[in-house]
Amino acid sequence: MTATAVTVRVPAKVNLQLSVGPLRDDGYHDLVNVFHAVSLADEVTAVADGRLAVTVEAAPGSAVAVDGVPVDGDNLAVRAALLVAERLGVEPSARLRIRKAIPVAGGMAGGSADAAAALVACARLWDDPESPLLGREDLLELGAALGSDVPFALLGGTAVGLGRGERLTPALTRGTFHWVFATAGGGLSTPAVYAECDRLRDAGGERAGLPDVSAELMTALATGDAKGLGAALANDLQPAALELRPSLRRTLAAGQDLGALGSLVSGSGPTCAFLAGSAGHAAELAAALGDLDGVREALPAHGPVPGATII
Ligand code: C5P
Repeated sequence: MTATAVTVRVPAKVNLQLSVGPLRDDGYHDLVNVFHAVSLADEVTAVADGRLAVTVEAAPGSAVAVDGVPVDGDNLAVRAALLVAERLGVEPSARLRIRKAIPVAGGMAGGSADAAAALVACARLWDDPESPLLGREDLLELGAALGSDVPFALLGGTAVGLGRGERLTPALTRGTFHWVFATAGGGLSTPAVYAECDRLRDAGGERAGLPDVSAELMTALATGDAKGLGAALANDLQPAALELRPSLRRTLAAGQDLGALGSLVSGSGPTCAFLAGSAGHAAELAAALGDLDGVREALPAHGPVPGATII
């Protein structure tokens, strides 16, 4: 039977290791990008109806500010729907409703998540259920065309991304890790943070080599060692994000003082991620961090969780 409405839940990510290599000719940087999907999630519903349109709202109970999200052809979920329609040779007839709990421009790949969800939802709406034209590999390829972080939002779990971050290999993990994400008012632009990273390196006479995957990080993940994971967290974009948003230093320091096992800026920021020892510790940390100046919300979450999933 052909579906008339499909809802897909899709997770946010935090980067456990984000090592930035040299700037390439195509304007991207070669990365070692260890992605980890966490239980902050958006939901995208595609309803087979009329002309392609999108609405964006905060998820029930979420205080995410959605005013910065485009509701025209610039919306990454709309671009995803158009790609699926083009590949299937059908009219892009759907209303997309995005319910956001992932911070906007927060360094947690919320836009990429919505694009991944739209790929899955529209493929389910428009593809032939008996013999689908678009398989998992096709969706991963369409995802990579939309953005470097979109393939991971399809995959979920914990994975090592090479190239722009789109060449993914699942990482071995054990158990569940507990996190707190401290969001900040206002986003940071990913290209601006990468550009600031290049500027800081140039100013310091530093030349980036091709990065390696951290062996300490992989061991901590494989053994479920939260303390080891906390010590191995690393983000090359952090100095640039702190340069552009100095107040994040205070947030990170406060998390350390409160006993977080590790802390870092998530991706290009400004969300800060704190690793806790247990769900209870995460709840305590969240309560304390939520009271800080400069923190909009402190949200407990856990990972790894699955990628884009039809619900
Ligand atoms: O791929 P995506 O559109 O998400 O990337 C956003 C921006 O982030 C790029 O335009 C680029 O400035 C920067 N970027 C980068 N190297 C990467 C991924 C992203 O420089 N590997």
